[in-house]
Amino acid sequence: MKVLVTGGLGFIGSHTVVQLAKRGHKVVIVDNLSNSREDVLTRIEEITGIKSKLFIEDATDEASMRRIFEASSFDGVIHFAGLKAVGESIKKPIEYYYNNLVSTMVLSKLCIEFGVEKFVFSSSATVYGNQPSPLSEIMDLKERTNPYGETKAISERILTDAAKVNLGFSVCLLRYFNPIGAHESGLLGEDPRGIPNNLMPFITRVANRDIEKLTIFGDDYDTEDGTCVRDYIHVVDIAEGHIAAIENMGKGVSVYNLGTGKGTSVLELIETFKKVNGVDVPFVIGERRPGDIAVCYADPSKAYKELGWKANKSLEDMVRDAWRFEVNNNQ
Ligand code: WQD
Repeated sequence: MKVLVTGGLGFIGSHTVVQLAKRGHKVVIVDNLSNSREDVLTRIEEITGIKSKLFIEDATDEASMRRIFEASSFDGVIHFAGLKAVGESIKKPIEYYYNNLVSTMVLSKLCIEFGVEKFVFSSSATVYGNQPSPLSEIMDLKERTNPYGETKAISERILTDAAKVNLGFSVCLLRYFNPIGAHESGLLGEDPRGIPNNLMPFITRVANRDIEKLTIFGDDYDTEDGTCVRDYIHVVDIAEGHIAAIENMGKGVSVYNLGTGKGTSVLELIETFKKVNGVDVPFVIGERRPGDIAVCYADPSKAYKELGWKANKSLEDMVRDAWRFEVNNNQ
């Protein structure tokens, strides 16, 4: 298939491009480099031996996107491009609504106009709001605790309504839990610009002495050790979930959780990271972060039943691969 991947130089996007290329699919990348680096394209080529076409454009720019659709006939689109930090979205709601919603509307409109039948959307577990885990796709979506999650829920709504009245346009909504880790080559990984918002890149930068210490946002939650529990899943497993989706998705609208089904606390993740990699991660306990929920992990059974996909990599694989990338990327 010929697949347009927006945000294809980003953390999850780049790992998905590698897996698509390995499966023989032709990939065109759109990325505005707001949270990625152009040399990721060279690293993807180093891993796959294939050079994907890159357009350095913004997915909210309809005129630029139209030119890309006019130049190629895509079989599918995988839409990763968007802002994705829960904490940051509370401080910058308009930026989050604009970027994440306009890009989804522009791309789905062009898919329908140009007869692109498959749209795989990078959604998130945050659409479930604060409900008891394990979280399942049959659950009603409750009110979100942050604008980031709201943009994902509204995007799902837009795509669902569009697919209902455009029979040649099918969407597959993939709700990620917490993607971490890196490609085993050490060439690709999570490399956000500036101070990381997410836990894992913060841990690796503290371990690498780039940042002095980690602040754990609260240890007074109603969990075993008082810190928040999340469903950490290896980014390569997430990428494989996109391959399963774009190759096996049905007609109309489908929704799947991409998680392991296992919850891990912040302290457990830190201890596993230290044990596996033999490095220290100094931390202090700070205040809770607004928008955080105590526990969030998946019921991943539907993706296995319908797409034949499940996560294979362990927490040890995730922390080992994340550290290898951090060391390799800062040599
Ligand atoms: C995890 C835990 C923090 C940083 C993520 C992504 C979002 C979406 C959903 C994909 C929380 C704690 C963090 C730090 C900390 N992913 N933490 N100190 O908030 O679960 O959301 O998954 O769609 O893009 O943000 O992930 O890594 O920010 O936080 O204690 O310096 O780590 O409080 O409990 P989160 P996160």
